[in-house]
Amino acid sequence: MQHQLHKQEKMASLGLLSAGIAHEIQNPLNFVINFSKMSVKLLDDLQEVVEECADKLDEDDAADLEDISADLKENLGKIQEHGERAISIIRGILLHSRGKAGEFLPTDVGQLVHEYVWLSYHAMRANDKSFNITIQEDIQEGMPKVMVIPQDLSRAVLNVMNNACYTVKERASKEVGTYVPTISVKVALRQDGATGELRIDIKDNGMGMTKEVQERIFENFFTTKPAGQGTGLGMSITYDIITKNHGGQLQLDSEAGVGTTFSFTIPVKITK
Ligand SMILES: Nc1ncnc2c1ncn2[C@@H]1O[C@H](COP(=O)(O)OP(=O)(O)OP(=O)(O)O)[C@@H](O)[C@H]1O
Ligand SMILES: [Mg+2]
Repeated sequence: MQHQLHKQEKMASLGLLSAGIAHEIQNPLNFVINFSKMSVKLLDDLQEVVEECADKLDEDDAADLEDISADLKENLGKIQEHGERAISIIRGILLHSRGKAGEFLPTDVGQLVHEYVWLSYHAMRANDKSFNITIQEDIQEGMPKVMVIPQDLSRAVLNVMNNACYTVKERASKEVGTYVPTISVKVALRQDGATGELRIDIKDNGMGMTKEVQERIFENFFTTKPAGQGTGLGMSITYDIITKNHGGQLQLDSEAGVGTTFSFTIPVKITK
């Protein structure tokens, strides 16, 4: 029964996550579709104006105008059509892509972490180009490939990084002047023959967390963010990825007003 309950809980959280992503992408797509609909109306108005002064145009110009307007209308129709198609594709993917367990693959973890750290940072910067974070990377050189589930591990790095970016941004908005938003990332492998211990640390100098928040952070749907900015699933998913899927440990070290460090410790097989 407990197993069943856990499964149900998980399905509910995945459903909500999918709904969250779909919602985020549908919003801008709706803008695309609505603006193109509005442009069709504006084009109709424009045609009326042109008709009113038809006597001032020679025949060729009038014909040109009509052709161009017709083309524009057709293009706008295509924008709408493809926008709507994109929405239905997103819905389709979100409905069907879940549930399949990821595979362990030989992975260059240093590269993976580097990529997703910057992906998160750039995603945040897409909303606010004026905001900069100092990112310090300490990635062990010449690390061999290790067996992890890359699709899951990248998700975990992204979740932690997104929170780190969010919190340093929040602190920067409250503390103007000397504060330097900084995120440090460290990847290291302790090798012991064909196996080893992978360690990934992500440290931020953001708001930090109270004891109360730290106690609840891994609960499904626990969030302190305003509605629309967090579903409260990032850390519960990350916890499952590190502990259940990889048999590792997730350590949290945080102090309110100082910052937070997340550490993943994962036992790995090493490939030649
Ligand atoms: N680096 C951090 N610094 C400060 N608080 C954090 C940090 N990471 C997580 N938290 C706190 O833990 C809560 C839960 O985090 P979690 O990532 O699970 O959800 P979320 O970020 O609120 O939403 P989601 O990740 O689903 O978009 C956050 O709302 C925040 O209060
Ligand atoms: Mg989060």
